Amino acid sequence: MVLTCPHCNKDHHIKNNQIPEGVTKVRCKECKKEFPLNLASKEKKQTQSPRKIAVALSKGGVGKTTTAVNLSAGLAMAGHKVLLVDTDTQGQSGFMLGVNPRAGLTEFINRELSEEETLCKARENLWLLSGGKSIAGLKRVIDRKDFGGEKTLAENLTRIEKNFDYIIIDTSPGWDPIIVNVLFYAHEVLTPVSLEVMTLQGLVEFLKSMSSIQKYNKELSLSYILPTFFDKRVRKSNGILSKLEDLYGDNICSPIRYNVRLSEAPANGQTIYEFAPGCNGAQDYRDLVRKVTGNGKLFT
Ligand SMILES: Nc1ncnc2c1ncn2[C@@H]1O[C@H](COP(=O)(O)OP(=O)(O)O)[C@@H](O)[C@H]1O
Ligand SMILES: [Mg+2]
Repeated sequence: MVLTCPHCNKDHHIKNNQIPEGVTKVRCKECKKEFPLNLASKEKKQTQSPRKIAVALSKGGVGKTTTAVNLSAGLAMAGHKVLLVDTDTQGQSGFMLGVNPRAGLTEFINRELSEEETLCKARENLWLLSGGKSIAGLKRVIDRKDFGGEKTLAENLTRIEKNFDYIIIDTSPGWDPIIVNVLFYAHEVLTPVSLEVMTLQGLVEFLKSMSSIQKYNKELSLSYILPTFFDKRVRKSNGILSKLEDLYGDNICSPIRYNVRLSEAPANGQTIYEFAPGCNGAQDYRDLVRKVTGNGKLFT
């Protein structure tokens, strides 16, 4: 297998049987820093197509939709085929991308319309299955099923997933049949943690709920914790960030700074790269795209 050092990006080719049982960390021969072996499984996932990443946390207002949209758009700009699935009743993803599709995820799952009619091409390489009020109806469809309701999303997305390199799923706050469906389908979870409003308790509780699903979806793992609303002048921001780094070291991404441009872009129906390509928000989301793709040279 190939292990890529997350610090210096050096690839190490090693045989599986060279790793003694019980070893959880390895040291990079190039930069001499340690990294956890479970990144090896991430490496494996990166070669699978598509990668299925849920952007999720039970709390609202932490930057889930902003992240799902700008991560998807950044991956698309890098040449990957991306499907953004909006599972939120607010349907903000379409708004942020400046599109207003007349059908979306609910019609796709209910098969009321053809796939072409439900998938909205929002940008080059970027398609959207939009959310919105109709998601409430989808919840009822799932609830009414006698069994297997939790696999509704997975069974349907499997039909089209081969057309994409990345499936990014935006989720609503709270815990309901839809988020359970998302976690039955996804392989990776990216959790935005607001350094402004977040108490670590919320993250711990979400991870507990997630682990109840990992019993059934063995491929599901917490891959990224993304600190958002970072303001280095605010002591609380720094405090939460260093606590997160202590607890979840290798899963932490570089923070997304508080940036007013990120809150202005949606009203213009533009991604942050279109609205203000030079701002901190655009730089930080480009960094996230580099981290997720493992390609440190992207956009340079
Ligand atoms: N880093 C940031 N800096 C400033 N405003 C942000 C940032 N990230 C998100 N926002 C704004 O904060 C609000 C909540 O973000 P949103 O992505 O909708 O969160 P969620 O989907 O978790 O509810 C939105 O108005 C958004 O534009
Ligand atoms: Mg949202």
